[in-house]
Amino acid sequence: MKVLVVGKGGREHALVHGLWQSGAEVLATQPNPGMAQHARGVDIAPTDVAGILKVAQTEGVDLVVIGPEAPLVLGLADVLRANGMATFGPGQVAAQLEASKDFTKQFLNRHHIPTARHVTVTHLHAAKAALQTFSTPPVIKADGLAAGKGVVVPDTWAEAEAAVQAFLGDRTLGDAGATLVLEERLIGPEISALALCDGTTILPLDLARDHKRIFDGDQGDNTGGMGAVSPLPTVDAATRKRIHEDVLLPTLAGFQKDGLDFRGVIYAGIMLTSDGPKVLEYNVRFGDPEAQVLIPRLGARLADLLLATATGNLAGKSVPVDSPAAVTVVLAAAGYPGTPRTGDAISGLDVAAAMPNVLVFHAGTRADGAAVVTAGGRVLAVTGLGATVADARATAYQAAGKIDFAGKQMRRDIAASVI
Ligand code: AMP
Ligand code: GLY
Repeated sequence: MKVLVVGKGGREHALVHGLWQSGAEVLATQPNPGMAQHARGVDIAPTDVAGILKVAQTEGVDLVVIGPEAPLVLGLADVLRANGMATFGPGQVAAQLEASKDFTKQFLNRHHIPTARHVTVTHLHAAKAALQTFSTPPVIKADGLAAGKGVVVPDTWAEAEAAVQAFLGDRTLGDAGATLVLEERLIGPEISALALCDGTTILPLDLARDHKRIFDGDQGDNTGGMGAVSPLPTVDAATRKRIHEDVLLPTLAGFQKDGLDFRGVIYAGIMLTSDGPKVLEYNVRFGDPEAQVLIPRLGARLADLLLATATGNLAGKSVPVDSPAAVTVVLAAAGYPGTPRTGDAISGLDVAAAMPNVLVFHAGTRADGAAVVTAGGRVLAVTGLGATVADARATAYQAAGKIDFAGKQMRRDIAASVI
């Protein structure tokens, strides 16, 4: 099987590695040095829709796997499928589930999927009036894509008003903040529930948890994710059943009722409240860094599962039941999640990668002669595999400790909450 992976970060390195492990011949758009170990590069930007179609056709690939949200929102999957290409990734309309918070709230409510109460507003005076309808300060969400900067969880009314003023009044996020969703604040542990979906069958992957804040103990600024763990032994069977029955199955039914032929991975960000699981958001692609724990757990079955998803053949497929636990620790650059410093030489990559049960996924790296240097905020994701989460965690931290670069930032408490 010949597969083209679109995207060039840590998630895409995990995809490339899993596809290679499955025996596929892998091509990738502008691969980072880690991806380039197992994929032949094509010099086309992940958002160059016409360029990707052309290379998929000339190379005669059997499958295109779209990693990030940006090309999905641009309609890359629709263009590829219209040209007869088996494609893993939903079309442009379904991608609105990630690109528009208001679209998502309407979808959730229309299909009776549990979520926080909300009000959508487009004018400052309406927003200020809507604030009064909540008993505690609501979460303020910019409707559009804002690279993780579009959600404020205020502790005070003054912070809530300031966020409304900034997003809607001052347009600090541009048009992404022209519509706001104000949402009841929920309390509880957060989890990521991802499922493969081929339009008619939904196949849940094991639960995962991302660690979004930059510092230990969930302190400091939001990031893209500083580490992840799967499975989550602390989530009981009754809760898993509710996630399946109250969230995933109604999501699939919603796709079908709305005429969305969703072929890819649906990711529900869920809060486990005292009132049951409630959906905070959808993403329409693998999470990053969730992919760096979920994909290694699928082992050599990845290529078959992705192709089955793309071609509507998921019925009867299963995910491995004996897969190891996985923990990934992100190594971030100085300055992240603000503007990261780049160009620092990275040492210890080979030593870490040679350790048993370790996978070193590259995210923001680039080759500089024979050296590999930092080239982005999240530089690497170091995954450990093991029989238990505790084993996987110990392995991941041992390997992460072998890798160094100036200004390296790393949380010490990834996965601690589920052991
Ligand atoms: P989102 O992009 O919608 O997932 O929001 C980013 C983060 O904000 C989530 O991962 C949560 O930690 C937090 N968040 C979002 N919505 C709520 C809510 N209704 N109540 C509490 N926290 C929330
Ligand atoms: N890990 C969060 C995300 O991928 O959006």
